[in-house]
Amino acid sequence: MSKTIIRFGVIGCGLMGKEFASAAARWCHLTNVDFEPQITAVCDANVSATQWFKEHVPSVKAVYTDYKELLADPSVDAVYCAVPHHLHAQIYVDIIESGKHLLGEKPFGIDQDANRLIQEAVLKHPDVIVRCSSEFPFFPGAQRIVQWVKEKKFGTIMEVEAGFWHSSDLDPGKPMNWKRQIASNGEYGCMGDLGMHVLHLPMRFGWKPKSVRALLANIIRQRPDASGSPVPCETWDNAILACDVELEDQRFPMVLSTKRIAPGHANTWFIRIAGTECSAEFTTKHPKQITYLPYTPGGVQAWHVEDAPYQSAYGTITGGIFEFGFSDSILQMWAAFCDELAHGKDARLPFRCATPEEAVGSHKIFTAALESNRTGQTIPIDWRN
Ligand SMILES: NC(=O)c1ccc[n+]([C@@H]2O[C@H](COP(=O)([O-])OP(=O)(O)OC[C@H]3O[C@@H](n4cnc5c(N)ncnc54)[C@H](O)[C@@H]3O)[C@@H](O)[C@H]2O)c1
Repeated sequence: MSKTIIRFGVIGCGLMGKEFASAAARWCHLTNVDFEPQITAVCDANVSATQWFKEHVPSVKAVYTDYKELLADPSVDAVYCAVPHHLHAQIYVDIIESGKHLLGEKPFGIDQDANRLIQEAVLKHPDVIVRCSSEFPFFPGAQRIVQWVKEKKFGTIMEVEAGFWHSSDLDPGKPMNWKRQIASNGEYGCMGDLGMHVLHLPMRFGWKPKSVRALLANIIRQRPDASGSPVPCETWDNAILACDVELEDQRFPMVLSTKRIAPGHANTWFIRIAGTECSAEFTTKHPKQITYLPYTPGGVQAWHVEDAPYQSAYGTITGGIFEFGFSDSILQMWAAFCDELAHGKDARLPFRCATPEEAVGSHKIFTAALESNRTGQTIPIDWRN
């Protein structure tokens, strides 16, 4: 099969930049795709971060320390940008204005003002395809939930709970990094870091809360810096958001939580929906399981626990009996993004990457949550515009 090669530049060669390179390197894992990313250029302000790419990604022909040079490189069609949050607005706007397509990391701006600048550039350049990174909904169990919501399988929804929990910050000796400082990570703290992952599906389903009451906690208030001296740890560790969702025909509470300190949880992303006709839960804690309870009036209430087969949005060489994992979800997200780049409006797109509009929605909720925590009030959210 002939393939459309999409030439990528990577800006930010840290943790996530490498994940993309690894996904691109095992593109042969996907079956029946007529497009393929090729990383031709990389950029990092810290040149030593690009060394790994030089050693492991033979397609890389150019290495930059100034992202503007990468944007001027005609051998780059699209950019993956994975840099600290305070740089999102400036760099994302410059990428979009250069005419190169963008998969940008969440939260798509350090705060709502920064996100507005990005959204203005998105609207000014409709020919540039811009998406926000969020991989967990590509797990087969999450895709089953997406399907069931589309089919209205749940009946009247009684309650939704979604979250993304980590626990390594329970260790007070874990060193300080940019993700624990307001200047680089933002006032949102854990919401900015983890919240887009939690909101991707609710936003996709159109579950826009009309209000939010938030409780935010800063638990570990100082951490050692590189020299071992304690420095203030400024950002929110944990957030619980009680949202009031009102749809045309139903109204239900939706509890969203983002936690850096949830003892025992390492990268646990989950969604639970309780409905009058069906309830269901998927959590990455049990990545191959989907649990559900179908109900008919007067019938038995029994949870079914099923091993969800490896049935991904884009087909792969992996047999259905095997397990799906984090790096598979990253590969699927990249397939969805490249599908859109290669085929535009004709892309078959079993599931679309998070959109800039969905990121705008997340910023509305996080900004209202900050105000709610500050004032102790329930804050209405205006979804007009
Ligand atoms: N999708 C996910 O699951 C996931 C997971 C972790 C982080 N992230 C997001 O990815 C982004 C980056 O996080 P990370 O964990 O990879 O961080 P990281 O610190 O590992 O990497 C960031 C890189 O950006 C580089 N950088 C800083 N300023 C730069 C500039 N001006 N030009 C070019 N490079 C510059 C740094 O030197 C560093 O190498 C953030 O937005 C974060 O929220 C997403």
